[in-house]
Amino acid sequence: MLPIHFAPLQGFTESAYRQAHYRFAPGVDTYYTPFLRLEKGEIRAKELRDLEADLHFAPPTGDRKPYHLVPQIIVRDVDEFNTLTKAVAEQGFKEIDINMGCPYPMQTKSGRGSGILSHPEKVREILDAASQFSQASAATSESIQFSIKMRLGLTTPEESLQLLPLLNEASLAHITLHPRVGIQQYKGALDIETFDKFYSECKHPLIFNGDITDIKDIQYIEARYPNLSGIMIGRGLLANPVLAAQYAQIPCESTSATLLKIHAEILADYTQRLQGNSQILDKLRPFWTYAELPKKIKKKIDKSRTLDEYLSAVHELT
Ligand SMILES: Cc1cc2nc3c(=O)[nH]c(=O)nc-3n(C[C@H](O)[C@H](O)[C@H](O)COP(=O)(O)O)c2cc1C
Repeated sequence: MLPIHFAPLQGFTESAYRQAHYRFAPGVDTYYTPFLRLEKGEIRAKELRDLEADLHFAPPTGDRKPYHLVPQIIVRDVDEFNTLTKAVAEQGFKEIDINMGCPYPMQTKSGRGSGILSHPEKVREILDAASQFSQASAATSESIQFSIKMRLGLTTPEESLQLLPLLNEASLAHITLHPRVGIQQYKGALDIETFDKFYSECKHPLIFNGDITDIKDIQYIEARYPNLSGIMIGRGLLANPVLAAQYAQIPCESTSATLLKIHAEILADYTQRLQGNSQILDKLRPFWTYAELPKKIKKKIDKSRTLDEYLSAVHELT
């Protein structure tokens, strides 16, 4: 049975979502924050608050594994890396994931996310800084471990294969690989052939990520890559939050009942934090983006103009 990692998804898997998911849908080994980034040289207060919200989250676990969260950062150089790593480490986190996969032009054009993959010298500097950080932290307390979440490249899959010797030399907890290039965004075929090559030469624990939507997909990947260390799932878990539980054969509620429970928690959180119903509606509506809903209800959700209209459409799902 492979550990299932819940992929970070900006705008979806913020703290309220992660906590609600953990409460109602067992089976996820590790959650990740959407990437933390610098704005005018500082970590954004909103993102720091989101991180802090999880520091004190310790629900009774029974025989379940405790909630495990790894903050993710996105950086273009050593300065950004040091500032963000320091801020995250000060919160007490011992693991940090480095985003080298984001395909959004806003990030890639400035050399972040998958935009860094064609700059081995930048990757090397960051890996060196990570290694120094780990060593320095080991002297004072428990060492900080870094992992990387990446794509095959920004424009060509060769980028990741060329980087592999460099990555293999580095000290990393694991690599998560999404076998697409950045310019594909989230569409088009996965490049399984290049994933195969990377898998056979990668010396770090490797996690597969991309287009997993059901148990058969998980089993296929599991059988194809016997040395894999885990599977990361994003949109598949947003659509079916109990997918990891179903795979691990842990008793759980139905997909629709769990979606509604998570939705209720997020609604409560937004109602407490946000000003005004239209703001709440704007933040809530995307919750259903990847869910399979009856067409009529989906249309009502998409077209609702007020929070009341929206909630009455959601109520039809009960
Ligand atoms: C709306 C959206 C936001 C995302 N935000 C992040 C992010 O903050 N950090 C990251 O590493 N990947 C991010 N991703 C990529 C996902 O983590 C994941 O790699 C991608 O969706 C492919 O996995 P999937 O097919 O299981 O969804 C995002 C993807 C989407 C669709």
